[in-house]
Amino acid sequence: MNFHEIIPGVYYVGVNDRVTTRFEGLWPLPYGVSYNSYIVKGSEKIALVDTVEIGGARDFFSHIDAATGGVAPDYLIVNHMEPDHSGSIPLILKAFPGIKIVGNRQTLAMVKGFYHIDNPENLLEIADGKELSLGDKTLRFHLTPMVHWPETMMTYLVEDKVLFAGDAFGCFGTLNGAVLDENMDTERYFPEMYRYYSNIVGKYGRFVLAAFKKLEGVELSYVCSTHGPVWHKELGKVVEIYQRLASGEWEDGVVIVYGSMYGNTAEMADMIAGELAKRGVKKIEVFNASFAEMSDMISAAFRYKGLIVGAPTYSMSLFPPVKTFMDAMVTREVKNKVFASFSSFTWASAANKALSEYADKLGWDHVATHDMKQSADETTAQAISALADAFMEAYSK
Ligand code: FEO
Repeated sequence: MNFHEIIPGVYYVGVNDRVTTRFEGLWPLPYGVSYNSYIVKGSEKIALVDTVEIGGARDFFSHIDAATGGVAPDYLIVNHMEPDHSGSIPLILKAFPGIKIVGNRQTLAMVKGFYHIDNPENLLEIADGKELSLGDKTLRFHLTPMVHWPETMMTYLVEDKVLFAGDAFGCFGTLNGAVLDENMDTERYFPEMYRYYSNIVGKYGRFVLAAFKKLEGVELSYVCSTHGPVWHKELGKVVEIYQRLASGEWEDGVVIVYGSMYGNTAEMADMIAGELAKRGVKKIEVFNASFAEMSDMISAAFRYKGLIVGAPTYSMSLFPPVKTFMDAMVTREVKNKVFASFSSFTWASAANKALSEYADKLGWDHVATHDMKQSADETTAQAISALADAFMEAYSK
């Protein structure tokens, strides 16, 4: 039973999912995922914070029962309505018919839309900054729209400085025993945090920053996300990662994404990687877009400062797997990249122009490009060397 006391009166009652292979039907889950839910017990009332994906309901109810000693919760706080957290709401209402579902106006509209629950007796609408007393514990609601949906909010337990943060500060990966960061080896979660942020929340960086601004001055001791560990000891590191990602402040490193049909564009990718290494770049990640996971490419593109993309011309357009990657960059409004491109064609060039158009659309610093006809020769080597020089000049600034 994965039921844990985090601090007196605050309990983890979430579940692990090692069955689902793709989150949102898109993103691979090699280490699974946890759907986190919490019980807050005040001297007078009990609140359940978020629910879990419906597949985890059996374990979820046994955890709630253990945390509450069989007493029905009075409130269900809904910080986020995506079904990985709201899926068990109908079962909660059935099990605890007197419970009040607490959310903002948009939350309650979604409760009705997704689950057809609209009995006013079961609904409590709150506004930004409002508080709800559980007796000796007080919950305060901070509306944080678009982190990750329009209704998203965070709930702050005032007396204990605990923030129930919804998807913010979350990561993929199940909780294998412990729940609190100080009781586990957290290393495996950080790459999964980059992947989670970039894949799921990344498009909404400016809203993440707005949430940070709104929470300025709110003292944090524990951050309880809806996915992954409860952050306490490593809270500073986690907040710094989120702040950096949301601000578009990238780490040193270069990501090369390419597509290739017969190896000619791939050869250029390796030539560029080699030239960068010669110029002192140690962190270089190279992805073949036909085979690499989109999730990993997006994560790396978010994390590192430099991005170099290459593709052959295909049917007078961009090679499709690379086009899909560039579309993912546009969807997520990825900013501030030092960018170079390379391309190839057989009789008529189109990929080069298409990559430039993407760079313009994204406002990237497109520092160099090379368009190769058919296959590499000695002029290609010179062109790649010049591309690496131009790239490094911008990258090193
Ligand atoms: Fe974990 Fe946006 O749901």
